[in-house]
Amino acid sequence: MLRRPRRNRKSASTRGMIRETILTKDHLVQPLFLIDGDNINQQIPSLNIAYRKSIDHILEEIQVCKELGITNFMIFPIVDEALKDKTATYSWTENNFYLKAIQKIKSQIPDICLISDVAMDPYSSDGHDGFVDNGEILNDPTLPILSKMAVAQAQAGFDIIGPSDMMDGRVETIRHALDQNGFENTSIMSYTAKYASAFYGPFRDALDSAPKAGDKKTYQMDPANKREALMEAELDVQEGADFIMVKPAINYLDIIHSLKEEFETPVAAYHVSGECAMLLAAAEKGWLDLNAAMPETLLSIKRAGADVIISYFAKMWVELNHNK
Ligand code: PBG
Repeated sequence: MLRRPRRNRKSASTRGMIRETILTKDHLVQPLFLIDGDNINQQIPSLNIAYRKSIDHILEEIQVCKELGITNFMIFPIVDEALKDKTATYSWTENNFYLKAIQKIKSQIPDICLISDVAMDPYSSDGHDGFVDNGEILNDPTLPILSKMAVAQAQAGFDIIGPSDMMDGRVETIRHALDQNGFENTSIMSYTAKYASAFYGPFRDALDSAPKAGDKKTYQMDPANKREALMEAELDVQEGADFIMVKPAINYLDIIHSLKEEFETPVAAYHVSGECAMLLAAAEKGWLDLNAAMPETLLSIKRAGADVIISYFAKMWVELNHNK
């Protein structure tokens, strides 16, 4: 045999020399769940490495992550049912606990990057990402609400605004609103190809944000479609997105790959709650070795073409790599 691919695999050094994909902590984003109050640190049963944390615990957690070298965070609010209404008023109300917490985090730990979530669902009494009228999720009436939310978040100190709502035209509307309010340096990470997926369950448990009626299929994408993801990406890039995201990640590696091939805009991938929960549950049963299966999973997302990976495992990944 003249060609023996195994020769290049014979030692850690030869494997190291030819390794094609390198994942580092710089590529990772750690999502965190913020709840109003003090000294709250509640484990989320369906995603038991994640916690609902009050601001004191969030600050502590960010500090710990920062010492490990993680500097990017996505923060999601858990809003009391009594504060929810049809138009998500609380999302842009001044003194909203989420916005106040962001100001505090930014003033105490300035050299980190905070990414927001723009969608109505955490604040909506209907539990949908858009404005609901007669059971229908209306696109255009949702846009001004999202803009107000985005401007309030930029004002609070978010570095990157993350529209996750899948309304048409939201990136352009938000870009204009940010620019008009003097936030031309605030970036937009658009949830470009966000699929109507069964893998968001634990997240909706965490936020208590599941739709009260119906599903999200008239705005989130059909898992069967790939060309539609390219169209969404084209629109988002034209409308001024700084990052285009695919979500979920593992079942959509082909979409990540296509977006990376077709566009120059950096690609983010969201390794969502249900995808993490699957690994945790299998590991808990002793069916998988989490310390091996988890890094393999994140690496595969990177190899598919993601520049940025949002994962609940970000901190654990860095801890594992530190110990090597
Ligand atoms: C809100 C939002 C969701 C997620 C991120 N932002 C839930 C949804 O669209 O129903 C899911 C993230 C995860 O499952 O980890 N629009």
